[in-house]
Amino acid sequence: MTPQEKLPDMIEAAKRAAKIAYCPYSHFPVGAAVLTQSGNIFSGANIENASYSVTLCAERNAAAHAIAAEELQLAALVLYTATPVPSTPCGACRQFLSEFNPDLIVYCVCDGEQVIHSSLQVLLPAGFRLPNAQVKR
Ligand code: THU
Repeated sequence: MTPQEKLPDMIEAAKRAAKIAYCPYSHFPVGAAVLTQSGNIFSGANIENASYSVTLCAERNAAAHAIAAEELQLAALVLYTATPVPSTPCGACRQFLSEFNPDLIVYCVCDGEQVIHSSLQVLLPAGFRLPNAQVKR
């Protein structure tokens, strides 16, 4: 199945995840879902903290669930925000995700009609990478 075909399921998973966001400070729930090469979908929401800077974004939470299941080959990500227009992943999440797939397909959806269909290649054209890294993928 292609990421396009999995998109409705990914959107549903991201929206469901946003419902359990822990965001008592910003009141800005975010949900994310990643599709792995095997066709599985893993989701996550943002988790805030009284020490604001250690807040975990939804995208990194979703990716961590895939990685914890030993599914390191990420194919696509959906980012859902409960807003009239879509939001794109923050810079830290772009770098985090690029570790696993610098060409990751990214869909940003919201409560409005607009969908941003992009990729990490576009959103993070020159991400940091160790020149000699032996990465298991
Ligand atoms: N947030 C995400 O979950 N993903 C992003 O890409 C940007 C921001 C969360 C962090 C925080 O809980 C809330 O949105 C407001 O910044």
